[in-house]
Amino acid sequence: MKVATLLPLLLSLATLSQAGNGSLPFSPPIDATDAPDLYQDQLTRDSEVLYAGGYLGERLEKRATDAELYGAQTTPPAPVFRYGVGTTKVRGVSLGGWLVLESFITPSMFKGIDPRIVDEWTFGQHQTKAVAQTALMRHWTTWITEADFAAIAAAGLNHVRIPIGYWAFQVATGEPFVQGSLFFLDRAIAWAAKYNLKVMIDLHGAPGGQNGFDNSGRAGVLKWTTTYNQQRTRNVLQTISAEYAKLKYRNVVTAIQVINEPAGYYAGVPEIVRKFYTSAYGIIRRHGTKHPNSILFTMSDAFMGMDYWAGFMSGPGYTDVAFDIHQYSTFDTTKIAFNNTQRIAYQCSLGVKIARSEKRIRTIVGEWTIAPTDCVGGGPLYSRIGNCAGKTGDSTQWSKAYKIWLRKFYEVQTQVYEQGSGWIMWTWRLESGDDWSYSAGLRGGWIPRVPTRKLYGDQCA
Ligand SMILES: *[C@@H]1O[C@H](CO)[C@@H](O)[C@H](O)[C@H]1NC(C)=O
Ligand SMILES: *[C@@H]1O[C@H](CO)[C@@H](O)[C@H](O)[C@H]1NC(C)=O
Repeated sequence: MKVATLLPLLLSLATLSQAGNGSLPFSPPIDATDAPDLYQDQLTRDSEVLYAGGYLGERLEKRATDAELYGAQTTPPAPVFRYGVGTTKVRGVSLGGWLVLESFITPSMFKGIDPRIVDEWTFGQHQTKAVAQTALMRHWTTWITEADFAAIAAAGLNHVRIPIGYWAFQVATGEPFVQGSLFFLDRAIAWAAKYNLKVMIDLHGAPGGQNGFDNSGRAGVLKWTTTYNQQRTRNVLQTISAEYAKLKYRNVVTAIQVINEPAGYYAGVPEIVRKFYTSAYGIIRRHGTKHPNSILFTMSDAFMGMDYWAGFMSGPGYTDVAFDIHQYSTFDTTKIAFNNTQRIAYQCSLGVKIARSEKRIRTIVGEWTIAPTDCVGGGPLYSRIGNCAGKTGDSTQWSKAYKIWLRKFYEVQTQVYEQGSGWIMWTWRLESGDDWSYSAGLRGGWIPRVPTRKLYGDQCA
């Protein structure tokens, strides 16, 4: 498709029409009109370089060597993790706010700087490169360390989901993103191997921006749907797939999520997402190993709900595929207003749907929180309801009753999500927001040291 023929579509996206089936009642303000052509001059050149393989060589120079990552020792292969029915459930955390900035996770990174800086794009845009780079390097080095991997493993978890932006692999001329995070991804994978954790690499920010959220790298922009950015995304997946299918990552990088949360709630987007998944599957499988140890091809439900995707990629011809469905009851006014009984009942009602979806295709709840409010941070949340006192921030200010509630909510959610292939909580650590933090929950006791340990029995009975 030529850019000109895309314009009507982009304009229709810009009207913010709700698809009606998405679970989000709000939409971030979207700028989808202003520039599919911004990068046009780069298209040919970029593609040529990518296809010539020059890109890969150039980028790999900047990456850690095997010796840096693994030392001289040859590590024995990691044990296999089998996904799906009758196997160990996925139990994990995302390393949110690390290789993709989110202001609600690390507000200190955004404090006292240009107020136009709201995401990683503007972080590079409205400061000098040296300042942005220094801040990011410090953050990447300190926010997640080997000690976190040790603690995640000690908490009985078996997965880490690592969000990363496309800009770790390539940036086009004119894009202000700062590179350098790839080294940290690779080092994290080496730590995962050491502590026997499995890694889901999650393309959290796609070229052009796939949802308008700050967590895509660029708030308020949805240009991932253009032909050019679709191609760039495929190129990045090609790079990821070729790299992480290598023997040294076998049974450590076990899943690749090809895009996080594309904006299925805009008309026209679900169709684009379907086509994208079909081609992305081919890209991942081209390098992916053969069954049964192949990389799990993981797709976001794009806010469309599990039933929308019924039958998609569940037939023969597709192996090792999974849906990642995010379950939050903190982003819409109805669910935020639930009382505790309703909130638990709602989770229990999801169990049936998840079990039904799991029969068709592996279903992982790849993001969720035990926070029952939208009180946290000043970042991505839209509809503050009720009194936030004693609900977020530092847990030393919370009542015992609230912590007991969080424990109950953790137990019911993990129980329900294990009717599918398992769960990955968002997120491991926050600067201020213990209700969203797995590590704070472990310290405070509202998250058990053994994830399956239940104090409150079967709350759905
Ligand atoms: C929403 O769901 C209904 C019923 O499942 C379906 O007919 C309709 O096509 C869906 N709309 C979109 C935009 O996907
Ligand atoms: C929760 O709300 C429902 C529906 O309004 C109500 O029937 C129930 O009594 C409430 N439960 C509590 C504990 O407040």
